[in-house]
Amino acid sequence: MTKAMNRVFLPVLGTVQPLGEAAIPADPLVDAFARRIRYLRVSVTDRCNYRCTYCMPEDLGDRLVFEQRSAVLSFEEITRLVGVFAKLGVRKLRLTGGEPTVRKGIVDLVRQVAQVPGIEQVVMTSNGHLLGELAAPLAAAGISTINISVDTLDPAKFSGLTGRGDLARVLAGIDAALAAGIRVKLNAVALHGVNDGELVALCEYAWARGAIPRFIEHMPMSGGQLYAPTSELNAAQIRRRIEAEIGPLVASAGTGRDAGPARYWQVASDPRREVGIISAMTEHFCDDCNRLRLTATGALHACLGHDDAISLRDILRRGGTDDDLVGAIAAAVTGKRAGHTFERTGAGAPQKHMIGIGG
Ligand code: 5AD
Ligand code: SF4
Repeated sequence: MTKAMNRVFLPVLGTVQPLGEAAIPADPLVDAFARRIRYLRVSVTDRCNYRCTYCMPEDLGDRLVFEQRSAVLSFEEITRLVGVFAKLGVRKLRLTGGEPTVRKGIVDLVRQVAQVPGIEQVVMTSNGHLLGELAAPLAAAGISTINISVDTLDPAKFSGLTGRGDLARVLAGIDAALAAGIRVKLNAVALHGVNDGELVALCEYAWARGAIPRFIEHMPMSGGQLYAPTSELNAAQIRRRIEAEIGPLVASAGTGRDAGPARYWQVASDPRREVGIISAMTEHFCDDCNRLRLTATGALHACLGHDDAISLRDILRRGGTDDDLVGAIAAAVTGKRAGHTFERTGAGAPQKHMIGIGG
């Protein structure tokens, strides 16, 4: 088989092949549904210092194997890929994990990617555990916003939910981020029977500090085995619970709004109090999707809810050119599905793990 034939687009289950040069569309970041990609989420490690039950449960046993260090992209490789994406039109980068702050040298990586021409915004999702030390250097390196996960303000519940989390440290991390001038959003996965009694407390905690609270509907990853419909607290229920305590919410253009999927609501009697809801399950936002995801090992996933992926690392490591990378990126974008199928648990849910893709 010739090299050219090798690069013909051929989607097979779970994998995507690069497009041949002739097949690359004029704008490789516009998909078949006219959605334009502007936003790249980059997982910088599949490791985490926490063990959140919905993300990385212990009972996955040997199905969850951490990647070898040599399999993980180097900073040079990440920065080169970011350069290619930026040339194509990506403007916003989110560093995720696992937990991005456990990647050695993360501050240097932030500095490198923040300097890539075209990149306008570098943000991060973190559990907050290491932000006490890292918030100021991350801010100096170019991080503008951090989404910090806090599902509960009850220390015992928090350590149960996170496996080994330390709420006091996370709260100190939030303060350190705010003190460093970083914009902070607080993420809570809304779970029936876990934090449904705390939704307003979580909002008040965020509002008191100038942070924006957000609630995320629980999504079934890992083949659906971490997901119990009974634990689901959906967007409508979240809004109703908040409204029952503090009055009507109205849709907001959202000062918190950016290229992400959250919809924002404000308290009608006090529009400065705003809350974001990521309603992946019950109120899809796939029509406006503008993002791609790169795993720590360089697999490009066009959708969180499907396992199709193409390895950009393999192209990098066999000496591929930027055009080769563009052919692979274009294939991922061309093959981007209309939307996820999260409502189908079990075999219909993605087999990949949240820990490996970073949300
Ligand atoms: N469903 C919804 N959100 C999840 N997160 C992790 N796993 C899940 C899941 N199964 C959240 C984390 C973090 C963000 C990246 O995604 O709590 O805030
Ligand atoms: Fe986009 Fe897929 Fe997420 Fe829907 S589920 S918003 S298509 S990444």
